[in-house]
Amino acid sequence: MQMGSRSVATSFRIPEQVLPSSGRRMQRLGFGTAAYPLVTPEVTKQAILKAIELGYRHFDTAHIYGSEQPLGEAIVEAISRGLIKSRDELFITSKLWCSDAYGDLVLPALHRSLQNLKLEYLDLYLIHWPLTLKRGRYEFGVRKEYILPMDFGSVWAAMEDCQRLGLTKSIGVSNFTCKKLADLLVFAKIPPAVNQVELNPLWNQKKLREFCKENGIIVVGYSPLGASGTLWGNNKVLENEVLKEIAEAKGKTVAQICLRWAFEEGVGVIVKSFNGERMKQNLEIFDWSLSKEDLIRIDDLPQSRGCTGELFVDESGTFKCVEEFWDGEV
Ligand code: A2P
Repeated sequence: MQMGSRSVATSFRIPEQVLPSSGRRMQRLGFGTAAYPLVTPEVTKQAILKAIELGYRHFDTAHIYGSEQPLGEAIVEAISRGLIKSRDELFITSKLWCSDAYGDLVLPALHRSLQNLKLEYLDLYLIHWPLTLKRGRYEFGVRKEYILPMDFGSVWAAMEDCQRLGLTKSIGVSNFTCKKLADLLVFAKIPPAVNQVELNPLWNQKKLREFCKENGIIVVGYSPLGASGTLWGNNKVLENEVLKEIAEAKGKTVAQICLRWAFEEGVGVIVKSFNGERMKQNLEIFDWSLSKEDLIRIDDLPQSRGCTGELFVDESGTFKCVEEFWDGEV
């Protein structure tokens, strides 16, 4: 683990980790750009500029979030305002949407993302979900009748080509179970560098983290605060009584407890806030620690997925139930 760039507005450095697949440094606290309810591109751009000012250097986007363009514009402006010297100071992740999850559509999809971002390369390109949607359908949200099983072999081979061509420094997956990772590792010529999954005190992903560690895959957590207020999350994390008690005793917020917990567990997380005060608050987690007792209490919290996968299951569809969708890892 190495220390990263000093943030302007806080006295802390955001710790980084190096991706062995590329040697690129990735801040362990990344900035999420998926906003729900949806906001205008200008709001997203201004939030990203503020985040760069505060010291965030790791940005997470996806074709389906609609945030690639505002992120690209924010990067151009950040360079022209001297907030950063070049794009190389940033770590940029984007994701292949399910309707492009066909062997012949991966490369064009990545080119489109790069065009949106005005970049020559990504740091990390992920398969967004382990499912395919009907070709050419890009609506936000998923129509269950369009869901198909993914041909992992051809999609992953195309992802590998993206890395070989230098269009992305590393490739990875998102929302993959141990079972799907194990299947992928059998035929992958380039193993996934990262698996980005839901991760917070109420869904701590212990088993998956263990599997990933054994196989050299870095886990990055999304929804570290439970994605309250969004379509795919809820307020169970921020309203959890144990977390509230720990926060109160420490003079911190529940959000800070969640982020500090993830940091102490050794995982990187992507946190989304477009509110300047909360963006700053979320960075202020590096000069204090949780006690052993706190960690035990958090470890004992009952576990359940916030992002259940219900959106993808249908009795007559490709995935009949959530257990099937998550390969029983629920
Ligand atoms: P906002 O953008 O208004 O700050 P997650 O990162 O788990 O997906 O959670 C994102 C949600 O949590 C967003 O609705 C975001 O709203 C909110 N959020 C982010 N940081 C904080 C914080 N420090 N305290 C409370 N809510 C937060």
